[in-house]
Amino acid sequence: MHVVHVASEVFPYSRSGGLGDVLGALPAEQARAGAEVTVVSPWYATLSGTVPEVWRGELSELPRDVSEVRVAEERRDGVRYVFIGLAPFDRPGLYHEDDVYRFSMFGRAVLPVLARLGLRPTILHGHDWQAALVVALASLAQLRTVFTIHNLQYQGKWNMHEGRAWTALPHHAYGIDGLEYYGEVNLMKGGLNFAHQVTTVSPTYAQEITTLQYGEGLEGLLTRLSIEGRLSGIINGLDQERWNPRTDPDIPAFSDLKGKQAATTALRQEFGLDEAPILATVSRLAEQKGMDILIEALPELVKDWNVVVLGGGDPLLTAALVGWAQHPRVAFAQGMNEPLSHRIYAGAHAFAMPSRFEPCGLSQMIAMRYGTLPVVRETGGLVDTVPHDVGFHFREAAPSALASACDAALNTPPADWARRTEQAMSLDFSWSGPAQQYLKLYGRTTGH
Ligand code: ADP
Ligand code: GLC
Repeated sequence: MHVVHVASEVFPYSRSGGLGDVLGALPAEQARAGAEVTVVSPWYATLSGTVPEVWRGELSELPRDVSEVRVAEERRDGVRYVFIGLAPFDRPGLYHEDDVYRFSMFGRAVLPVLARLGLRPTILHGHDWQAALVVALASLAQLRTVFTIHNLQYQGKWNMHEGRAWTALPHHAYGIDGLEYYGEVNLMKGGLNFAHQVTTVSPTYAQEITTLQYGEGLEGLLTRLSIEGRLSGIINGLDQERWNPRTDPDIPAFSDLKGKQAATTALRQEFGLDEAPILATVSRLAEQKGMDILIEALPELVKDWNVVVLGGGDPLLTAALVGWAQHPRVAFAQGMNEPLSHRIYAGAHAFAMPSRFEPCGLSQMIAMRYGTLPVVRETGGLVDTVPHDVGFHFREAAPSALASACDAALNTPPADWARRTEQAMSLDFSWSGPAQQYLKLYGRTTGH
């Protein structure tokens, strides 16, 4: 079985969040389980590492002005990573305003590049809207396809006129059963309609997205897919080596609550915090993550906690946090910082995730690996991964609800806290189970 993943990010080459992490770990696990695995992603100007170029030429499948293509490839952990270089990707950063155009060009390049490299997928597995066009093209070319939703909020919508010219699918693909959405082109919808199987990254979220509250306007289609048995939820895992408090080079390594104290002391020193417990978060600063809820709860929280936030994104949320960082009990580090994230996961006592929606969420799992107890809104993957006798749940997306869950954490007797921590650190978040579930799904999809 040759599995070809297509995604816009893949750790450690490129990453903005959990999607990159998933593509950095799941393929290697599938390779360990015996599959032949290829990952295809754009060759960004900022691609880290030096991957050797293996092919360069013109693709007649692309418009003339972007037909020059460079392909880089390397093997790593038993997986073939293929990077496609196109002019629209030759600039800093991963995502931009013209992404519908850029990922349309990328999408059109994928199958021709695979053909040039002599690779034929048994199953093509696309991730999020950036890979939806490839899924549509692959299905139309009689390949078997799986499409995974990591984030339904971003759908890749554009006006029909340009969107159609860029995606260049057969006419029938632009109907209501294809990419058409209220007169526009919607790539996510195309992925959902053309894929043989659709998955998302937790069972609870798979259910939630069939409802008005979480369906982002696609709940009708998702309900139909669910009824047809074409929608399921497979939970994400964690890269167990990258996130291991026993061997993590970024922290004073530890294996139990007692050992964790050194990491806490180091974090206090790093940010000049007092003796109050530390509530942390490492997150994109976005509406999805409920960072406004956290900020609004700060007046309450700082009475009992030091609050440490690492994150980047929304300028208004950033400005609010910069302001709050004047407070002796609030620390804010802006931007992406991988080593610092490890120090925070390790040193904090509790980890806040007041997400409005959360397809899976990796941060809460990482936190638990490091004995940091999650305080989570009861939604999506947070329901499926945070046991009630480990973390603290709340229902309402409101500052007062977050604050009372944090109170419950604060009032947990030390023996109970120790037991919760021990259990958190012993939970299994490995990729082996989920990787098997995907392989089974591929089997069902291809009839192998
Ligand atoms: P999402 O993909 O929705 O952002 P996840 O919880 O699935 O959320 O994954 C987020 C990943 O990105 C985690 O590994 C988290 O540690 C990491 N991350 C988020 N923000 C930062 C940051 N500012 N610095 C370092 N890592 C970050
Ligand atoms: C998305 C979701 C997050 C999920 C990640 C990886 O970014 O927001 O919940 O964990 O994808 O699947």
